[in-house]
Amino acid sequence: MSPTRILTGITTSGTPHLGNYVGAIRPAVAASRTAGVESFYFLADYHALIKVQDPARVQRSTLEIAATWLACGLEPDKVWFYRQSDVPEVQELTWFLTCVAGKGILNRAHAYKASVDKNREVGEDDDAGINAGLFMYPVLMAADILLFNANKVPVGRDQIQHIEMARDFGQRFNHVYGEPLGETFFDLPEAVIDENVATLPGLDGRKMSKSYDNTIPLFVPRDALKKLIYSIVTDSRAPGEAKDADNSNVFQLYQAFASAQETAAMRQAFADGIAWGEAKQALFERIDSEIAPLRARYEELIARPADIEAVLRDGASRLRARHAQPTLARLRAAVGLRDLSQSSTGAAKKSTKASLPLFKQYRESDGRFYFKLVDGDRLLLQSIGHDSARTAGQLIGRLKQEGGTALHGAGAAAVHLGDELVGHLHEGVDLVEVVEALAQLVAEDA
Ligand code: TRP
Repeated sequence: MSPTRILTGITTSGTPHLGNYVGAIRPAVAASRTAGVESFYFLADYHALIKVQDPARVQRSTLEIAATWLACGLEPDKVWFYRQSDVPEVQELTWFLTCVAGKGILNRAHAYKASVDKNREVGEDDDAGINAGLFMYPVLMAADILLFNANKVPVGRDQIQHIEMARDFGQRFNHVYGEPLGETFFDLPEAVIDENVATLPGLDGRKMSKSYDNTIPLFVPRDALKKLIYSIVTDSRAPGEAKDADNSNVFQLYQAFASAQETAAMRQAFADGIAWGEAKQALFERIDSEIAPLRARYEELIARPADIEAVLRDGASRLRARHAQPTLARLRAAVGLRDLSQSSTGAAKKSTKASLPLFKQYRESDGRFYFKLVDGDRLLLQSIGHDSARTAGQLIGRLKQEGGTALHGAGAAAVHLGDELVGHLHEGVDLVEVVEALAQLVAEDA
């Protein structure tokens, strides 16, 4: 069984705050260490351009967010960690999906509709001031997800509709291009909403969010953290007066960082009338003890942006070779962006070169890597599944090198190279045809 693929993107439009840490970063880093999953974490910088048109801010935010995830323990050699714009296949797939996406579906996207509604309220033209990027946002996001056939996408509630749209576009593509071939191109992703993850209140008691300007940045220096925590709005109950833990943002913040035991003790302290100053001091110490070691690592990382750049580039280049490029090769062929000499209509007259047999590598929805040997329109040989594109490729290399000489059949159309099972002959194909086809390839190579 191939591992479950978990993918999530972080828009690079701001500075990470405690709410991001508790709600997304901390649980994601923990999840990335689970066995049996393949995790994808990326910096959604193309998405950032939709709302941020300040280049320095996009760059700064990308650096800060990358350093934050690394400081919080994401291991770039165990997960795919990359920057969206380093994977140009995302853009190409965006276009393929754009051309199967229903415009009417995009009209109904919440984020776009909210902007239209605002315009209507003030009597403006529906689309005044709305860029087409906002309108296309769900298609770009679908490409992020479908490119890697992600199965699970951890997101906030506001993103559920986007995952549904990704399913819709993926399904349409499968329908239009896959059904005639009896193939599936995309697994359909599911949104994962973690009910246990706390939404943190901000300084003013509303949800901590950049748009409310009530955040506590994750890695402010210790003194500044203390100042911010002391500025949290509370009621005016005096020291000694019992305080309502459940309706206190100080308490909720404390709970997000404390053990069950510590939380119970703090609840008791509230009932016993702890002074706000004292409660805030305890909150500050509790948060700082978790954050301080991460902050130290963050400061080291952010001082060496070239190292972070190298980590991101390395992630993207391995990911492209392993997943994005093979997938796009298959999709390009599926939609008809093809080598003209390999016309499948048979209308084009074959040149000598075009009539050479050919290995085609692809990946099946079971996650495994396959190849087939075709001669013009004729399918000769179908391989068994491989765990990696590399082992499949190596076997092709050996077949090309050794030709048909070492090849033999062993009943039920099975084809072996030495004692390794290569695959199966297509119905009605004789092993001799395969041997001859390989001989042509060997001759061509020589
Ligand atoms: N739109 C997401 C957000 O604002 C970020 C994002 C971009 C994303 N592409 C994604 C999330 C793909 C999950 C999967 O939160």
